[in-house]
Amino acid sequence: AHVGHPTNMEPQTNYDESAVPSYELPDPLIDAAGNPVATAADWQSRRRPEILRLFEDEVYGRMPGPFESSHTEILDEDPGALGGRAVRRQTRLRFGDDETSPAMDLLLYLPSEATGPTRVFLGLNFFGNHSIHTDPGIRLSTEWMQSSKSNQIVDHRATEASRGVFASRWPVADILARGYGLATIYCGDLDPDFDDGYANGVHPLFYQDGQTQPEPHQWGSISAWAWGLSRGLDVLEEDDAVDAAHVAVMGHSRLGKTALWAGACDERFALVISNNSGCGGAALARRRFGETVAAINGNFPHWFCDNHRAYNDCEDELPVDQHQLIALAAPRPVYVASAIDDQWADPKGEYLASRHASPVYELLGQRELDAQQMPPVSQPLADGSIGYHVRPGGHDVTTYDWNRWMDFADRHWRG
Ligand code: GCU
Repeated sequence: AHVGHPTNMEPQTNYDESAVPSYELPDPLIDAAGNPVATAADWQSRRRPEILRLFEDEVYGRMPGPFESSHTEILDEDPGALGGRAVRRQTRLRFGDDETSPAMDLLLYLPSEATGPTRVFLGLNFFGNHSIHTDPGIRLSTEWMQSSKSNQIVDHRATEASRGVFASRWPVADILARGYGLATIYCGDLDPDFDDGYANGVHPLFYQDGQTQPEPHQWGSISAWAWGLSRGLDVLEEDDAVDAAHVAVMGHSRLGKTALWAGACDERFALVISNNSGCGGAALARRRFGETVAAINGNFPHWFCDNHRAYNDCEDELPVDQHQLIALAAPRPVYVASAIDDQWADPKGEYLASRHASPVYELLGQRELDAQQMPPVSQPLADGSIGYHVRPGGHDVTTYDWNRWMDFADRHWRG
């Protein structure tokens, strides 16, 4: 199974390290007025909100709080799922009072042998909850999704044959065996991934009278998906079987950008994981290596807020860069994973952003990413509060990645 990508081949794409322009990164510890940020309290109360606001207004767009008339319904529960290894629970959160209001379905697996509240990984998926496992008990998504022959999506709808098409990206049995739970939501429940001027999905729920699309500083699709992750955490907080103080938010690619942004906006997420998130995710924009701001805004005009277009081919004018997005996770543990053949996502830029987030972690008394060089493949740097690895292979999520994240979570949560 694979995601249908656009060409990923802008004619002017740079893949040559020696052609990376020289650039100066905005310093996370010098504020907009030029004053140094010297204490943890200063970071938390002054500089962190300043950076967050810049990412809201200039990159992803501001998102609203929870929708007032939301209703939770447990659709079904199976205490003997996956041959008795798991408890499976599917919960619907509906935004509005009638059947036609948008809704998101959260699929949760918990290890059946758990004796107390379980720590959970929460992530969005690309092709419906049923795409993560062949379990016939998972409800087949009926929402719009990108048509894809290889993933058995016909006329924008899932078919029975699409069950488990992305199972390799979600090693559910391994996750349960290590004592963790897994929760997932289809990103298209929040906002279908195409440019329709924000007519569908959750954006219209919040329009003022007469408003037909978000303002230039208001949320695009990545913010809507991140908002959905927070709503997923709301659902998990209501579940006594979940240890909601230990929920890791994770995501791959566009949904990895989303996971970083969700972790920045919602400090309830205890751990943040980005996989191959690239441009607009963990990779430094100023390097202009692989995908660029102009390329991403051109191919995906709905992902970011409209203000972000001002930085097409003007990366040096951005008041932030992506190391500061990673720093917004501090002091919580954050893990950035790259794949060496995924040059479009700029693995080196992802490593550098992780390293340049370090001063914030240090200021907050956390152990930083102390490697001065990008590590070779398969040599994770994960002893501190910022984890990083680059694995062999291409743009994908593998069991290797999951094992590193679970090792990292074990280290931070179980000592
Ligand atoms: C495209 C896009 C990337 C994105 C990826 C994905 O390649 O250019 O920015 O991360 O799709 O989401 O799979």
